[in-house]
Amino acid sequence: MNTSHHPEQPSPNGQPNPNGAHPAEPHGLGSFPEPGGERRYAQIVGWGYHVPEKVITNRDLEQIVDTKDEWIRTRTGIEARHIAASPRETTATLGMKAARKALEVADIHPHQVDLIICATSSPEHIFPSTASIIQDGIGAVNAGAFDLSAACSGFVYGLAMARGQILAGDAEYVLVIGSETLSRIVDWTDRNTCVLFGDGAGAVLVAASDVPGGIMATELGSDGSGADLLTLPAGGSAIPASLETVSSGAHYIKMDGRAVFRFATRVMAEATRKVLDRAGVSVDDVDLIIPHQANIRIIQSSVVKQLRIPEDKVFINLQKYGNTSTASIPIALCEAIEAGKVQPGDNLVFVGFGAGLTWAAAAIKWSTPIEKPEATWWRNTQRQAAYQAAAARSMWKRAVRRVYSQVLAGREGE
Ligand code: ACO
Repeated sequence: MNTSHHPEQPSPNGQPNPNGAHPAEPHGLGSFPEPGGERRYAQIVGWGYHVPEKVITNRDLEQIVDTKDEWIRTRTGIEARHIAASPRETTATLGMKAARKALEVADIHPHQVDLIICATSSPEHIFPSTASIIQDGIGAVNAGAFDLSAACSGFVYGLAMARGQILAGDAEYVLVIGSETLSRIVDWTDRNTCVLFGDGAGAVLVAASDVPGGIMATELGSDGSGADLLTLPAGGSAIPASLETVSSGAHYIKMDGRAVFRFATRVMAEATRKVLDRAGVSVDDVDLIIPHQANIRIIQSSVVKQLRIPEDKVFINLQKYGNTSTASIPIALCEAIEAGKVQPGDNLVFVGFGAGLTWAAAAIKWSTPIEKPEATWWRNTQRQAAYQAAAARSMWKRAVRRVYSQVLAGREGE
C-alpha cells in the first residue's frame, strides 16, 4: 500500500513533507491503523478552481428584474457572479478545468486517481453522471466516478466519502469536485432567486498519507421535512418534464428564502461545534472557517455571532461569485490559499448547508505545503500530452463502438 506522505519522504508534489515538524495529532482521530500498524490519514494535497469569464453585476441585474444593487448588497453581500455564457462551458467542462489544476498542484497523473466524486446541483444529466464525463475528459482511466446530490452541502459530503474510502484502504487518490452551472436552472424573471446564484467549479485531490492530520472529522446531517423549501420541482421521476412543467417554469429553482435563512443560521453553528468536538479541537483553536458562501448575513449571524469567531478567521468571497452551491467552499479554499490564509499546521473548518435540507462540516488539520511545484517545460509538455491522449482515447473508443454497432447491424441484416 502506498502511503505517500511519510514525514521522511517527499510529499506527492515533490516537496519536503511539512510534517518534519509534525502538528500534534489530536486524540489520534481521523485515521485507521494500517495492516502493518501505521496509521492512515486523508490529506488534501491538490486544489484548483475555474469560473466562467462572463461577469454579471448587480447593476446588470437591475436591467433584468425589479431589483436594486443596494438591496442585493445589503441583504446578501453579493456584488457580482460569473455565468457560463458559452454553450461550451458546462458543469463537466468547468469541473474538468478545476480537477486538472488540483492534479497539477499535487503533481499527480490522472491515471493515479482511484475515484472521482462530483458534487453538483446542476448535473449535465440525471444520468450519466457528470463525474463520468469528467473522468473521461481528464483521462482518469483507473478511476470510478459518481455524482453526489446533497445540494450546497455536497462538497463537504464528498470530502467525507473520500476520507472514508482512503481510511478504509480502498483508495489512494480521490478527486472531490464541486461544479455548477446554476444559471441554467435559475428563473431569470424571479428576483427572489436569480440574484443569488453563480457558476463555477472547485476541486481538491485527497490522498492517503501516514502524516498525521488532514480531514480529521466530518459531520453530516439531513432534515427531509424541509425538502419543499428549496427545490427544482420538475424533470425528475416525481414530476417528469412535460409541456406543462416547462410552461409553468417548474424546471427552475423554487425557494422559500426566509425559511432557508432561519434553518441555515441554526445548523451552521451546530454543525461546526459538533465537528470540532469530534476532532478534539476547541473553537478558539480554529485558524480559519470556510463557510458555504450563500449570504453574508447567514455567515455573520451563525459562525461570527453564535460561535464568536472573529471575522478575520472567516473567509468570505461571495461578493465576487454569489452562491455557487457545491463549488463555493472549494473555490473559497483556493482563494484563501492564494491569500496566504492557510498554512501547514492550521485548523480549518468547512461548513455548508443546502437543499434537502442538508448540512455538513469537516474539520481539517492542514498539513500540505502551499507552494506550487515549479511547472517545468517538460512537466507542462507531459501534462498537455496526457490531456491530448485522453481526448484521442475517448474519440477512438467512441469510433470503435460506432463501427462495431454498424458491423453488428450489418450482420443482423444478412
Ligand atoms: N430585490 C429587491 N427586493 C427583493 C428581492 C430582490 N432581488 N428579492 C426579494 N425581495 C423583496 C421580497 O419580495 C420582500 O418583499 P415584500 O416584503 O414586499 O414581500 C422583501 O424583499 C423582503 O424579503 P425577505 O424574503 O424578507 O428578504 P430577506 O432579508 O429574507 O432576504 C434572501 C431574502 C436573500 C433570499 C434571504 O432570505 C436568504 O438569503 N435566504 C437563504 C437563501 C439561500 O441561502 N439559499 C441557498 C441555499 S444553498 C442550496 O442548496 C442551493
